[in-house]
Amino acid sequence: MKDDSLLVHSGRDPQRHYGIVNLPVYHASTVLYPSLESFKKRAVGDQKYRAVRYGAYGTPTTNALADAVAELEGGQGAVVTSSGLAAVTFAITAFVGQGDHILMVDSVYSPTRGFCDTVLKRFGVNTTYYDPLESESISALFQPNTRLIFCESPGSLTFEVQDIPALAAAAHQRDILVLLDNTWATPLLFKPFDKGVDISIQAGTKYISGHSDLVIGIITARTETLFRRVKDTTMVFGEIAGPDDCYLALRGLRSMGARLKQHQTTTLKIARWLQACPGVKRVLFPPLPEDPGYKIWKRDFKGASGVFGVVLHTESEQAVAHMVDGYRFFKIGASWGGYESLVLPASLKKIRTASRWTESGYVLRYSIGLEDPDDLITDLVQGFKRLNDTVRS
Ligand SMILES: Cc1ncc(COP(=O)(O)O)c(C=O)c1O
Repeated sequence: MKDDSLLVHSGRDPQRHYGIVNLPVYHASTVLYPSLESFKKRAVGDQKYRAVRYGAYGTPTTNALADAVAELEGGQGAVVTSSGLAAVTFAITAFVGQGDHILMVDSVYSPTRGFCDTVLKRFGVNTTYYDPLESESISALFQPNTRLIFCESPGSLTFEVQDIPALAAAAHQRDILVLLDNTWATPLLFKPFDKGVDISIQAGTKYISGHSDLVIGIITARTETLFRRVKDTTMVFGEIAGPDDCYLALRGLRSMGARLKQHQTTTLKIARWLQACPGVKRVLFPPLPEDPGYKIWKRDFKGASGVFGVVLHTESEQAVAHMVDGYRFFKIGASWGGYESLVLPASLKKIRTASRWTESGYVLRYSIGLEDPDDLITDLVQGFKRLNDTVRS
């Protein structure tokens, strides 16, 4: 099956549910067994990882979402978590122990950084941040105890594209695992396991759900062994997503391909318009040929989603506030990938450590929704008028 058909058909089997199109929501803690013997055998062999045996280890609804995402990403198995951040932290936790070292990309989503600098550090796992543009020379940063390299491509807020195949080739020579936060590309636009990734992470909160109404995460593994390691970890922690959220995420998944096509078309139009806008210094969006990440993006990705950054000429917080506070469509708020457009300030100078952000100009992140592109451009035009009026006054 091709991806568009997988989006529609994976993770469901109507004939097992009275012909009902969508898999029903199974609410469960207790699962009953007909005999002592069957109860005692409930976690033997494969049963431990795939059977429905207790609500905290998975229900038909959580398993359906995991199976659908695993199939789309091309992995052997997936685990659903309570948020995208939980998918990141449990994926890392599954593979490290006291005395280990990890490599973390400097452009990573800030809370991932927070986990490394607090919990991992407290448990004796050291983190080295690396430049997102680093590739073959990454091996200079490997230590004898390096267990994994964590990538996020394009990176949060600044959208650098990482050379994942080159990083993976270097890492695998030393038996180092490659973990990727693949949320920007979704399971459709970057196929992680074809590019050397071992563990792929989705914040299903974004494009998979698509409606800004839930938080959820999915960890997909390249092999059955890696999947079991992740599942063992989430089961030990009692980590799971609620069935209603899994249902909503599955429902979102069905229309993700169609939504992404519209996100891509509108975003390209808006990004090109912004490039020509006098108030804009630079648009940070790899699908633009002028972007430094374009070459690798074109080689490795199957398309674009709708999140990008803009470096403005002004540094005036007051002028930017005047611009964004007055937007009609672009709402100010965290997260992205939903149906309505969002804007958010990015304070990069305070975040980066391995590849300092020295460029002048206020940085904003835009998430383009499903509104009409001309309406969004009108909103941006009026915003720049407000910004210019404030700068001039
Ligand atoms: C790249 C990336 N990964 C992970 C997350 C975390 O997802 P969640 O909000 O579901 O915890 C986010 C959230 O914004 C994100 O941008």
